[in-house]
Amino acid sequence: MLNKENLEKATALFARYPEKKAALLPILWIAQEQEGWISTDMMKYVGDLVGVPYAHVMGVVTFYTMFNDKKLGRHHIEVCTNVSCMLRGSDKIVAAAEKVCGTKLGSTSADGRFTLSEVECMGACGGAPMLAIGEEYHEHLTAEKAEQILTNLK
Ligand code: FES
Repeated sequence: MLNKENLEKATALFARYPEKKAALLPILWIAQEQEGWISTDMMKYVGDLVGVPYAHVMGVVTFYTMFNDKKLGRHHIEVCTNVSCMLRGSDKIVAAAEKVCGTKLGSTSADGRFTLSEVECMGACGGAPMLAIGEEYHEHLTAEKAEQILTNLK
């Protein structure tokens, strides 16, 4: 469930929309900021809050890649493999990330340090190929640069 402060933020959002369910996305965002991910219990809770069934909330959470329905590692590495990045060598960035992180795309390393995700265009095509670590973008990458950046993470 949302803590007191976030519940106040969430309920304040209702005033901005014609109906409660329209506030689903920003409330899910608040929930994810609070917990780091969105559990089944949280999806049910948010569904009750905005008046939509759990299945609807789950559909939304699993549709948008920016929502996480599983606990993440300490560092969330998102590698773009969409067209611009693919044409500029994202396969090499993926290989470098898998090597350094010790895990495959779509999974979390055994030590819980890294979660590696493949994502669609992150709006940084001009800097392709790129990856994001949390909200920080790293662009114009080579495999060597990506390895260096990821190796330097604490
Ligand atoms: S295709 Fe990778 S950022 Fe747009």
